[in-house]
Amino acid sequence: MIVVTGNPDRRAALEAISRGAHDFFTKPVDIEELKAILKRAFYVHTLESEYKALQQRLETRSFGELVGASPVMHDVFSAIRKVSTTDVPVLITGESGTGKELVARAIHSNSVRKDKPFIPINCGAIPENLMESELFGYEKGAFTGAHAQKKGRIELADGGTLFLDEVGELPLQLQVKLLRFLQDFRLNRVGGRQTIEVDVRVIAATNRDIKKLLSEGRFREDLYYRLAVVAVDLPPLRKRRDDVVLIAKAFVKMHTKDGAKPKSISQEAIEALNAYDWPGNVRELENCIRRAVTLSEGPSITATDIGLEPVQPAPASFNLKAAKEDIELRMINRAIAKNEGNISKAADDLGLTRPTLYHLLKKYNISFKEA
Ligand SMILES: Nc1ncnc2c1ncn2[C@@H]1O[C@H](COP(=O)(O)OP(=O)(O)OP(=O)(O)O)[C@@H](O)[C@H]1O
Ligand SMILES: [Mg+2]
Repeated sequence: MIVVTGNPDRRAALEAISRGAHDFFTKPVDIEELKAILKRAFYVHTLESEYKALQQRLETRSFGELVGASPVMHDVFSAIRKVSTTDVPVLITGESGTGKELVARAIHSNSVRKDKPFIPINCGAIPENLMESELFGYEKGAFTGAHAQKKGRIELADGGTLFLDEVGELPLQLQVKLLRFLQDFRLNRVGGRQTIEVDVRVIAATNRDIKKLLSEGRFREDLYYRLAVVAVDLPPLRKRRDDVVLIAKAFVKMHTKDGAKPKSISQEAIEALNAYDWPGNVRELENCIRRAVTLSEGPSITATDIGLEPVQPAPASFNLKAAKEDIELRMINRAIAKNEGNISKAADDLGLTRPTLYHLLKKYNISFKEA
């Protein structure tokens, strides 16, 4: 917007500009002056949109420490952005090593609580009899060995974020106690009579099939609904193929010694990375790259450094339909990786039509970035 005015009052002009007008000038219109102003407006507009596009590209390939450019990771990034501005509980699901803890930390560090503690507690790693005092703390003399008062993890997270990792492992009895806490954010330390109010944001994660735990009665439905106000699912790495090399490159950089130039990854090694199934997900990829960076002697990381054979794991069952689907999924992934997301070419390689391939992509819920 360019304001042309008959009113020479500078205050009105300033006001117009502060409200978003690009420029202003007073009548009568001098065509040369107008040309110059328009030229500059176009120039600024181009710069602005270039900057925005660049910003967006940078943003889409990573979010804090999280790397990823696949559509699903895109969705995860925007979910993190949205929930970070609120205090709603989030449940993060996904196989082991998919980045659940990293997502929880990203939510915390993008929230207003970022300067307060992020306290993780692994609900699967602590023996059941210690879990309650670990979560809620205890008073001196609450039980043999309680020589002094101790705050629990919930209290330690006051003002910040409590991360309930492997929440699917929480024993039923403690699920009840946790639920009670989540209803009013008040707790009593073990052996304590004083009620303590705690201000925490709760994020939980599990690699278990929580729906199955619910149906088997091993996870309380009421607790589930409290925790999963927003659910974020992290797909396994084999379902976001276009992230593998991107994340691998980020790990090469991360594990290169300070001051050294990060090595490139050879084409052969890239193919090996793309062909592998990554049952251990991003964690396995990180270990693999860390080792390769250490082993590698030349200017680039080779397939030998990576040490990966395209895998053919033993079939999980002899059911022919399952085996067929398994191989179908694998071949489709490889064809897409090989053709860098070009669906027509991938369909050609597979001997399928494009619509058939799209149908299969949908069936197997394979996410990819179309080239
Ligand atoms: N998208 C990603 N970009 C970069 N690094 C990642 C990404 N996802 C995971 N990682 C890294 O992979 C490793 C495993 O991630 P994390 O510990 O968050 O997984 P997890 O889902 O909590 O696994 P588990 O269920 O085994 O606890 C970490 O070192 C983490 O930094
Ligand atoms: Mg974890």
